[in-house]
Amino acid sequence: TRPATAPAAGPRPATAPAPAARPRRLRSTAATRRLVAEHRTHPADLVLPMFVKGGASEPVALGSMPGVVQHTLDTLRHAAVEAAEAGVGGLMLFGVPAERDAVGSGATDPDGILNVGLRALVEEVGDAVVVMSDLCLDEFTDHGHCGVLDAAGRVDNDTTLVRYQEMALAQAATGAPMLGLSGMMDGQVAAVREALDADGWTDTAVLAYSAKYASAFYGPFRDAVESTLTGDRKTYQMDPANRREGLREATLDLAEGADVVMVKPAMSYLDVLADVAAASPVPVAAYQVSGEYAMIEAAAANGWIDRRRAVEESVLGIQRAGADFVLTYWATELAGWLR
Ligand code: PBG
Repeated sequence: TRPATAPAAGPRPATAPAPAARPRRLRSTAATRRLVAEHRTHPADLVLPMFVKGGASEPVALGSMPGVVQHTLDTLRHAAVEAAEAGVGGLMLFGVPAERDAVGSGATDPDGILNVGLRALVEEVGDAVVVMSDLCLDEFTDHGHCGVLDAAGRVDNDTTLVRYQEMALAQAATGAPMLGLSGMMDGQVAAVREALDADGWTDTAVLAYSAKYASAFYGPFRDAVESTLTGDRKTYQMDPANRREGLREATLDLAEGADVVMVKPAMSYLDVLADVAAASPVPVAAYQVSGEYAMIEAAAANGWIDRRRAVEESVLGIQRAGADFVLTYWATELAGWLR
């Protein structure tokens, strides 16, 4: 009789050659799998994107993003504290203004909803969680583009840079320690860095949405910010066909002084993320966007996939491809599971 710990396997069938290696050995128990795991998600690696709506007295649920809301200032504070308690590493704020105009005046108004919301977040979580701003004009323009338009109706790169500089100063003044430049204008990192430094904001960091693709996966986000865009962003956001160009964009942003570079969306661009992570001397982020969230939520709601496993696996995959931190609408919930 064998002791209970003896191998259970019987003699090998004579016809089967012995495997040269047995990688299954390290998969045989939960303890071994945990010991040898190459990556694991930690709450501090997660950033929660949030929406705050100007003039709202009640939070508004988003049909295309179940579980995500447009916050009032009050519920924004509450959700920020909840995220902080769960150990989330950062908060990324988007504003949904009540009024919009051609140049996106609300973006640079200290009393505009995004700047007011940023101040509320900084006040609420202080230094415990990194408060990040979305630095882009699309939520604030009546035409819905990420910049200002020229006489012919095209997004004017260099005029937009001046607006981004003004926006950066307004956001830095809220106390937000990291500005997320998501507009995909050429030279935006250098322009913002120069404006910040000239005004004394040398410690305000720039997170550059470096490789940001013109993606169908932003669909639900456009509902979330009540986007008025007609047409598309293909003259400034990147072509999904291009991999090499993702690295080029990140390299340009690094040369312009980006403190963090980001790839967005995440799940359909893991090759680009791996390229950028391999080359970047600064931390690399990835944004699991609204459509990626909606896809998993919809499949899970239908009982087609296991929601929690799919969420965990999707974020782990993004980390495995090279992200140092991940923006995800599941940040608080996932952080809670990980505790
Ligand atoms: C631009 C911005 C967008 C997203 C983040 N910043 C929308 C766009 O470029 O059209 C999308 C985020 C998401 O889909 O979750 N301000």
